[in-house]
Amino acid sequence: MEYIGSKNIFMLTRDMLKLVNRKVMDHGSRVAYILSMMLRETGRYEEYEIAEFCYLASFHDIGAYRTEDLTKPLQFESRDGAPHSIYGYLFFKYLSAFGERSKILLYHHTSYSNLQEVDFEYKDIANYLNLADAVDVYLTALREKFHVGMFRKWVGKRFSEETLELFMRAEEKGQLIENIRNGEYKKALDEQMDYLIFTNEEKKKCLELLMYCGGFHNVEFVINTTTCVCICNEIAMHMKLGEAEREILYYAALLHDIGLLGLPKELLKPQYELSDAEKELMKKHIAIEERIFKLRNLNEDILNVAIAHHERKDGSGYPKHLKGKEQNKLQRILQVADGMTAKAPLTKEQVIAELQNESADGKLDKEIVEIVLRDYDAIVSKVAEESKAILSMHTKLNTKFQKISAQFT
Ligand SMILES: [Fe+2]
Ligand SMILES: [Fe+2]
Ligand SMILES: [Fe+2]
Repeated sequence: MEYIGSKNIFMLTRDMLKLVNRKVMDHGSRVAYILSMMLRETGRYEEYEIAEFCYLASFHDIGAYRTEDLTKPLQFESRDGAPHSIYGYLFFKYLSAFGERSKILLYHHTSYSNLQEVDFEYKDIANYLNLADAVDVYLTALREKFHVGMFRKWVGKRFSEETLELFMRAEEKGQLIENIRNGEYKKALDEQMDYLIFTNEEKKKCLELLMYCGGFHNVEFVINTTTCVCICNEIAMHMKLGEAEREILYYAALLHDIGLLGLPKELLKPQYELSDAEKELMKKHIAIEERIFKLRNLNEDILNVAIAHHERKDGSGYPKHLKGKEQNKLQRILQVADGMTAKAPLTKEQVIAELQNESADGKLDKEIVEIVLRDYDAIVSKVAEESKAILSMHTKLNTKFQKISAQFT
């Protein structure tokens, strides 16, 4: 069963990251377009390979979401060993299916002369990306004053002869600069992405990567989502759900709060007291994700489960105020799991009491709550184990980040 197409995964990730910072994401798209034209010019790559490099290039500054003050966009685009290139590399290395190619992000601000000593299969592409990035940065800053000849002075230092040559040839044939200025590049990039072919395993990794992007907004997001995924999985096992249902539930739980990326960061801080108006604004995360899931053709079953996690059996939930029979089993499971996740700082007794109340009030499904309460300790310890693994991954990412940063200073 196809849950989402490869190109749609790319578009979905891009839509979501655009909500976090539009400037960084649009820059990524333009750079990916320039890179695609340069790669085509080499004659060495198949269309699907170019599409994969474009995926990586579109998100080449993803580390900046974590390491930089994005109120001053694109000021971070310069130094060798810039923090965002290190973080972006580690993020892709540990969380994506791109493996060794992730290192292209590490070296996207490394000059050609420094790359000489580096042993890395794709260092030429890292240098192409470096130029594509510089072209867009200068084009944005200089506008009409920009001219391609200005890169000549860096040949042999910042860029290789081949890199500049490729760009010049691609520009001559394809009017890259013109296409960027008039917006035509968007169509060209999207057409390139028709060639993207991910396996199911790779798609799963891509959607998990998107979920981890929620951690740029607030760290708790990743822990909460993982907790929710894990509780859903435990309930599914106890209810002996079939594989197809379990998969739908998995993806719905993974993506259920991703619309929060479209809301102001401050609202998501755990200690922040929301005003009534802000509470209403928070509810918008459902509409945000629903719109994008529909636009990118996410499987309907997954979509319907994901967007119903704040509905309640008695119709008191939102946004559609669905009642009892209007909700399916998977939606009701996610409501219990999400409800339980939201009670995280409470004690065991408090959580149990609240779940019992909400089931007695007809808000949460009785049968599902009973399953959770029957195996409460086992479920909680399984969830704790899982969160520990996520946390240690975070620590590993951060430790590696410090270590690599130290090498550059
Ligand atoms: Fe960068
Ligand atoms: Fe960049
Ligand atoms: Fe939510």
